[in-house]
Amino acid sequence: MKKVFIKSYGCQMNAYDAERMADVLAREGYAETGAVEEADLVVLNTCHIREKAAEKVYSELGRVRVLKEERKAAGRDTQVVLAGCVAQAEGREIFRRAPVVDVVVGPQSYQNLPALLRQGRGAMDTEFPADDKFDALPALEPARIRGRGVTAFLTVQEGCDKFCTFCVVPYTRGAEVSRPVARILDEARRLTDSGVREVTLIGQNVNAYHGEGPDGAPWTLGRLLHALAEVPGLHRLRYTTSHPRDMDDALIAAHRDLPQLMPYLHLPVQAGSDRVLAAMNRKHTADEYRRIIDRVRAARPDIALTSDFIVGFPGETDAEFEDTMRLIEDVRFAGAFSFKYSSRPGTPAAEIEAQVPESVKTERLARLQERLEAHRQAFNHGTVGRTLDVLLEKAGRHPGQLAGKTPYLQMVQIDGAGLSVGDVVPVRITAAGSNSLFGEAVAGVPAASAA
Ligand code: 5AD
Ligand code: SF4
Repeated sequence: MKKVFIKSYGCQMNAYDAERMADVLAREGYAETGAVEEADLVVLNTCHIREKAAEKVYSELGRVRVLKEERKAAGRDTQVVLAGCVAQAEGREIFRRAPVVDVVVGPQSYQNLPALLRQGRGAMDTEFPADDKFDALPALEPARIRGRGVTAFLTVQEGCDKFCTFCVVPYTRGAEVSRPVARILDEARRLTDSGVREVTLIGQNVNAYHGEGPDGAPWTLGRLLHALAEVPGLHRLRYTTSHPRDMDDALIAAHRDLPQLMPYLHLPVQAGSDRVLAAMNRKHTADEYRRIIDRVRAARPDIALTSDFIVGFPGETDAEFEDTMRLIEDVRFAGAFSFKYSSRPGTPAAEIEAQVPESVKTERLARLQERLEAHRQAFNHGTVGRTLDVLLEKAGRHPGQLAGKTPYLQMVQIDGAGLSVGDVVPVRITAAGSNSLFGEAVAGVPAASAA
């Protein structure tokens, strides 16, 4: 049997796509391997969001080139596929910069991977086809789902029409497309039938979801979540990533009304200055963001809020950065991702002359991260002493332990005696470490089981 090694960089969408590519390739007789040196086919599923992510790919390709040569010397061929957003953004340029690459395939064309591999060296597909790529991909198979654990991603929406001025996504992933409700429900049922207990709906702009419902009308994400909550065996629902502008009342109400919908919201704000937000084309002010948070917290007071931040957007002054610092003190996020602004070719912000010096970005990022980390730790310590439902996902750190997640997406380690992966058990949180909580399963309290 031929072997394929797939490495995925970047966002959850890429992780999901990598699984779909594995499914397509399984039909062509490829088994997945974690050992790149034994792979007949190497697929790098790349990310273009920041310069560092894109550059990482070329150093990885350098290593793959050495492997390919070694295998060649031993009489074995290796095909190399460059997939994902770098493929989309750079196209043919990749063959020139990295001749080790045989095939270039963009995120909307994975269904054509077998044909491209047959075509061989120099084959490329970076089209945005009119049809939904997921329709052309094979349906999930129970055995493959089982091998992947009790939590799963499910893509419901892809692409973005927001055109934030710093972001490459609208160019690499294309215009926003939502999958029909019926297909999503079907995929969710397949997942739960095969043991999945938690589904995270993913999309670059997931709360802009407007897929066609069974009634022919476009459904909102709130409505979709209500329908998914009816799927038997689906204990937990999450969704990511959302845009503040699309946080509508129905979605906020779902956080109040649906026990399956976990109290967790990732809502990137990027910056706390109204001038910077406008220059980023975010189309909301810092106070509008604060009011959205107020509404979400009114619906679900304990909700864990997380966000993304960019420091050093072109022209960002010290005072404007302080606005971001103020915003984080007001909201107190349970977690966050924060980045230095990275100029991306082809985006409007890359054309702004007043770029912020690297040293200033470094300083701002360190200050921001110090406070964000303090808030994250405070949130985690705040759960000590509480009893929280934990979905057990995998073996824990030490023998006999199991690890799982709280509703707030915190990892917890517990003694696993008598418990199984897939169970949801009430756990009393006893301590908070820097990356994990520790707890004890509470006996005698009813909990959902894997069955
Ligand atoms: N520079 C830095 N960070 C960026 N992001 C997107 N584009 C850039 C960029 N050019 C960040 C945003 C987004 C997250 C996925 O990546 O914070 O929410
Ligand atoms: Fe990029 Fe903005 Fe779209 Fe998010 S909303 S993917 S940051 S353009």
